[in-house]
Amino acid sequence: MRIGILGTGNMAAALGAQWASSGHELMVSGRQPAKAEALAQRLGRSVRAGTVAEAVEFGSVVLIAVLSGAVREVLSAAGAESGSFCDKVVVDCSNAVVPGRFVLDLPAGSSMAEQISEQAVGAKVVKAFNLCHESIWRLTPPAFDGRPLLVPLCGDDAGAVEIVRSLVTDIGCEPADGGGLERAPLLEATAAFAIGLWARGVEAQAMLPPFEAADM
Ligand SMILES: NC(=O)c1ccc[n+]([C@@H]2O[C@H](COP(=O)([O-])OP(=O)(O)OC[C@H]3O[C@@H](n4cnc5c(N)ncnc54)[C@H](OP(=O)(O)O)[C@@H]3O)[C@@H](O)[C@H]2O)c1
Repeated sequence: MRIGILGTGNMAAALGAQWASSGHELMVSGRQPAKAEALAQRLGRSVRAGTVAEAVEFGSVVLIAVLSGAVREVLSAAGAESGSFCDKVVVDCSNAVVPGRFVLDLPAGSSMAEQISEQAVGAKVVKAFNLCHESIWRLTPPAFDGRPLLVPLCGDDAGAVEIVRSLVTDIGCEPADGGGLERAPLLEATAAFAIGLWARGVEAQAMLPPFEAADM
């Protein structure tokens, strides 16, 4: 698959490394060409660097891995309003979490994924990879006690969700159907809540019982 990556930071590096070693073709991009070039070189000889517009054109899949506050500006720079993302599978891992307060810097009930979907005309947006720290996405594989990490996905386009499911299994994780994009606000709020617990040293995983334990 051809994957364009918007961003040259931790998430771009973590997921980029996983997908490069799974044999996908990558182009990384950012506002600083030297950073994009350096990341491309780190990810492998076949990985290209370009502008954000070039990365969008390159990928049938586009990963948005920039800070949430910069997403609108980056998408505009890539021509989102004029259709550059049309028919692309857009993977959004962004979390608009306010540091220290662990709430979302978004209008109530909204989500980054839905905002991206509104801005990027014709894009098939899938929310994914937002629940775990970048260090987890660097693990090969991200599995614990022999159990692959579950990665919930929210998206409206069944074909796009299927493609992102395959990108999840490529890195040794297990995809979970999180429903349509209307449920992305829940997934983004879950991240904010869990990050707030982890930041206080609380084991967030322990708040959920094993499935078998509930009498449902
Ligand atoms: N870190 C995590 O553990 C984690 C986990 C899950 C999801 N996420 C989400 O993933 C996204 C990326 O996080 P990250 O950890 O990779 O962040 P990061 O390492 O700080 O990298 C941020 C990227 O955003 C770019 N950027 C920032 N402001 C920009 C602007 N005004 N215009 C253009 N580009 C700008 C940076 O470019 P420069 O280098 O040029 O500044 C860099 O490429 C965020 O939305 C975050 O919420 C992060």
